[in-house]
Amino acid sequence: KDIDVLVIGSNVMDLISYVERLPHKGETVEAPSFEMGFGGKGANQAVAASRLGARVAMLTCVGNDGFGVKTRANFVANHIDISGVLTGHQSNGVAPIFVESNGDNRILIVQGANTELTPEVLLDKIDLIKQAKVIVLQQEVPMPTNIKAIHLAKKYNIPIIYNPAPAHKLPLDVLQMVDYLIPNESELAAITNMPVSTVQETKSAARRLLSFGVANVIVTMGERGALWMTAGQKETLVDGQDVNAIDTTGAGDAFVGAFAHYFAQGESLDAAIAQANAYAGLSVMARGTQKSYPNICSHVTKEVHA
Ligand code: RIB
Ligand code: NA
Repeated sequence: KDIDVLVIGSNVMDLISYVERLPHKGETVEAPSFEMGFGGKGANQAVAASRLGARVAMLTCVGNDGFGVKTRANFVANHIDISGVLTGHQSNGVAPIFVESNGDNRILIVQGANTELTPEVLLDKIDLIKQAKVIVLQQEVPMPTNIKAIHLAKKYNIPIIYNPAPAHKLPLDVLQMVDYLIPNESELAAITNMPVSTVQETKSAARRLLSFGVANVIVTMGERGALWMTAGQKETLVDGQDVNAIDTTGAGDAFVGAFAHYFAQGESLDAAIAQANAYAGLSVMARGTQKSYPNICSHVTKEVHA
């Protein structure tokens, strides 16, 4: 197969304000700094995998504006196959993001052209899909597109990594077909309607998903690490990284992209999870999303400025 990791999903221009505090209703507050950066959960995951050395293709829809042009250039600079990158009829997706001084973030997302990534597009690009060792999905594109992608993946026997972010409930019959579901704790709580305030509770919620037929649930828990549970009762807890968090935006995507890369390389799941956890840990030590993803690959050289 020619493609290690095919990401079907979103791209977004991140508009990040670093704030001391958020304004109240009707209030204007000055913030110390602002940065623009390439983001969107799908694009972030693709870039993480590529920077680790995977052959990555992206199926996504950029906007018909300057952000769309830059985003396309950014894929090329990151050595991502753009034969599945379309240009839509509306503005690029954008995400106004607010990062507080302790690294916590709040994200608003305007999908823009991402809404044009329809199930029909997948059929047009079926050759790309057939070439993939693994397919990675998130929830910033229309749900029918993800459902179609999962059906096609089953048809061609391609494993699916599904990141249910941002949290929306997904249909049960779709969940059942997911091989690797990677939620964070709040997404897990939203999908199951169960509490996740202790590791015990998190395990119960993950078990609920396994009982629905998901083969593997990998819960990312930030500084507490990651929890991997399988239908076969196996439970593995990978410790978190003890790092100084500057900006946690996109850390989950760093994990998913890195996991997809190591998985496609044929690593054991234990090793893939541990290395994804380490990569995500590095990403929180720097500002931004893609900007903060370490690049260990000489073919990804050019820096595109957002
Ligand atoms: O997961 C982080 C990403 O979520 C950001 O890059 C932002 O674009 C939003 O999609
Ligand atoms: Na970061």
